[in-house]
Amino acid sequence: MTDQVVIDYTNALAAQVGDHGISPSELDQAAAAAGAIHADLVQKRESGEMGFFDLPYQNLTKIIQFCSACAVDLENVVVLGIGGSSLGARALGRALLPPYHEFMDSKGREGRCRLIVADNIDPAWFMGMLSALDLSRSLFIVISKSGATAETMSQFLIVRELLIKKFGMKGYRDRMIAITDKDEGLLRKIVDQDELKWLPVPGNVGGRYSVFTPVGLLPAALCGIDAVSLLKGAASVDRRLREADFFDNPAYLLGALFYLADVKHQKNVLVMMPYSSQLLDLAEWFQQLWAESLGKAVQVDGSPAHCGSTPVRALGATDQHSQLQLYQEGPNDKLIAFLRVEEFKEEAPIPSAFEELEGVSYLAGHSLAELINLEQRATEMALTKAGRPNLRIEFPRITGETMGQVMYLLEMATVFAGGLYRVNPLDQPGVELGKRYTFAMMGRKGFEKEAQEIKAFEQSVKRSRV
Ligand code: PA5
Repeated sequence: MTDQVVIDYTNALAAQVGDHGISPSELDQAAAAAGAIHADLVQKRESGEMGFFDLPYQNLTKIIQFCSACAVDLENVVVLGIGGSSLGARALGRALLPPYHEFMDSKGREGRCRLIVADNIDPAWFMGMLSALDLSRSLFIVISKSGATAETMSQFLIVRELLIKKFGMKGYRDRMIAITDKDEGLLRKIVDQDELKWLPVPGNVGGRYSVFTPVGLLPAALCGIDAVSLLKGAASVDRRLREADFFDNPAYLLGALFYLADVKHQKNVLVMMPYSSQLLDLAEWFQQLWAESLGKAVQVDGSPAHCGSTPVRALGATDQHSQLQLYQEGPNDKLIAFLRVEEFKEEAPIPSAFEELEGVSYLAGHSLAELINLEQRATEMALTKAGRPNLRIEFPRITGETMGQVMYLLEMATVFAGGLYRVNPLDQPGVELGKRYTFAMMGRKGFEKEAQEIKAFEQSVKRSRV
């Protein structure tokens, strides 16, 4: 039987948390707005403007061929990319590969590769990663849709030179794959020039919605994650989402709950709190998806917006000993979305000892699986009692299928929330200015105006030496 993810939103409602919760009439208002948003999404789906709708039904032959044609006897798959070009693969790897697989030998990893996602450009961290790897058994996947992202292209240039020096041009080609736009961008040009193997990111799928393209699926599949079951999960949700009826559509409902909590109840912090270390990077992936899609200065009609709740990730039970005090007693400005796993791969029974010490011996006969889930329940009850709205996304188990369901669900919830906020959830104009300043500081031609602005800014700097 298929595992099905369930959303329990009881504790986000006014019936449970009073004025801090969402009322039936607010949900009815969102339901009334849903018709037009749904029609717009259907139109964008049919016109091909929103390409991610088609991804659950794609043919995986190319990706599978790539995996079997890999010329190198692989130990490591290393993703060079950032943001939407890296977080999806990282979330899949953390959820679906054996915990701590990076530290295991090939036998412990059941012959699968390690998945390493570079993401950041901290120089010591990046070079440390490269020196820890057996390069002869590493495959690098450089992922950039635009082909112009400074972080990714710098990483690529460093690795390219290293591989050419060590293995020559053929050895470099055997160890480097590119994923980029089909027609445009500098990486596309480099692919031709260096004669690299490559796969496309569909033009109509933006970075943070690209986990079900080669961007997420190729690294995952190379490490033995079943891409077919990911798509199966996404497709099962997609079929349900075609329901126009708001209350039958979990993505619309979830997007509306997140939106209403922010706009009607000033819960402008959206905490995603998995009670599973394996789902922590899923929360990080969602953080980027929600922040970059909905944090916008203007609405689609040009009127001012400055909207979007701030997504934060926390980890249960760890953050019960860190953030929870604030969530429980600080400003009531948060909606907390728990991720809960009903059945873990391991139970981890707690053995009995020290029977005379009641404060410790009560743990015996229970398990870590039981404890983490009881703590989730206890936290949720305490928050609800304090009038702090929260909801729960329940995974029966963490599998390819349930990950496919939840990632697709969250993408759709985000796009639907874009409709409610009346913003374009597919662009990210706010990150462009920072990129231009970086180009100017790095001396790229064409950014002289930005270089002048930086000079003027630096004249008014105030610093305090410690
Ligand atoms: O979601 C997005 O569009 C961004 O986060 C991009 O993925 C990120 O900036 C990397 O861009 P690129 O793939 O062009 O290197």
